[in-house]
Amino acid sequence: MQNPASGPRAVVLGIETSCDETAVAVYDGRLGLRAHRLYSQAPLHAPFGGVVPELASRDHIRKLLPLIEGVMATAGAAPADLAAVAYTAGPGLVGALLVGATVGVGLAYAWGIPAIPVHHLEAHLLAAFLEPDQPRFPFLALLVSGGHSMLVDVRGLGDYRTLGETLDDAAGEAFDKGAKLLGLPYPGGPALARLAATGTPGRFSFPRPLRNAPGVDFSFSGLKTALLQRVRALEAGGGLTEAARADLACGYEAAIVDALVVQSVRALEQTGHRQLVVAGGVGANRQLRTLLSDAVGRMGGSVYYPRAEFCTDNGAMIAYAGFRRLMAGAGRTGGPPGVVARPRWPLAELALRAAGSDA
Ligand code: KG4
Ligand code: ZN
Repeated sequence: MQNPASGPRAVVLGIETSCDETAVAVYDGRLGLRAHRLYSQAPLHAPFGGVVPELASRDHIRKLLPLIEGVMATAGAAPADLAAVAYTAGPGLVGALLVGATVGVGLAYAWGIPAIPVHHLEAHLLAAFLEPDQPRFPFLALLVSGGHSMLVDVRGLGDYRTLGETLDDAAGEAFDKGAKLLGLPYPGGPALARLAATGTPGRFSFPRPLRNAPGVDFSFSGLKTALLQRVRALEAGGGLTEAARADLACGYEAAIVDALVVQSVRALEQTGHRQLVVAGGVGANRQLRTLLSDAVGRMGGSVYYPRAEFCTDNGAMIAYAGFRRLMAGAGRTGGPPGVVARPRWPLAELALRAAGSDA
């Protein structure tokens, strides 16, 4: 485990541009996180109800270099202080990835230091190490974002085994699609959670798919259909009031959270792990945090959460993952660095590679 106070004096600049956040951070092996900043494109995409890839790439181009300058200045770091530049190499939107990758590789080349391609999901899995209360390898991770819902057996850096995943929509996608059906603005997850907090629990109940099936997979698409049917029925009867929308949001959120809690507990029982690390944007959900902590606490286990801003996409987790990879030997191959941008990059492929490899 990396303890910043006694860690090596390596400073890494991290760049994240895989989707709609331009994010940059400086992580220091001795001092921990020195600076991090994020520019969200959410208002840019809001009128379209989702991320428009071409707009995302263009906006990353506009924002990335000024953000890097600002973060380096806040960190009090000069290029000569850096040991490496880490950038998100995938998975993500290819155009958006290419912006961070080319800038990251270009800067690293100009500064004469290695460029380290980082797997976005590995960075999410390691984000809990940015907090003072850190887990220890091995642990179970619940990775729930806009594109993924997985339970992962994390045995060490680069040693990941997927135990279960979603058969259809990701948990974040379920939140976002549900929010759209309820007429909430993009990005929907946090908006749905806020509306749900004002609703009456139990007025509407939603299906609990796979609850009685073996395994620890997830399925959320039926939930969305059930919500659509309820919304239509209420609309037809003139009953889609503000209170009804809040009650629907409450029941819908409860069904998603219940699935995540039930499968996490089952995976803990199956693996014997007693540490659960929560990662990804949905990990910011308050209801999920409360119910997971209760359920895992009852088993004598502990849940580790990154703070909400490190659950959603951020530069700090990329700088940190780059730092861990650097310590494990990444970036030692020499020669001009290649630009790595992999829109699809299964976590399992990463697991097959040696922790010290360059990609
Ligand atoms: O990890 P992330 O920032 O980006 C991806 O890599 O996908 O996750 C974004 C997802 C979105 O679907 C968003 O609606 C959801 O996380 N999310 C939430 C909350 N905050 C973000 N879902 C439920 N409750 C929240 N508080
Ligand atoms: Zn993410």
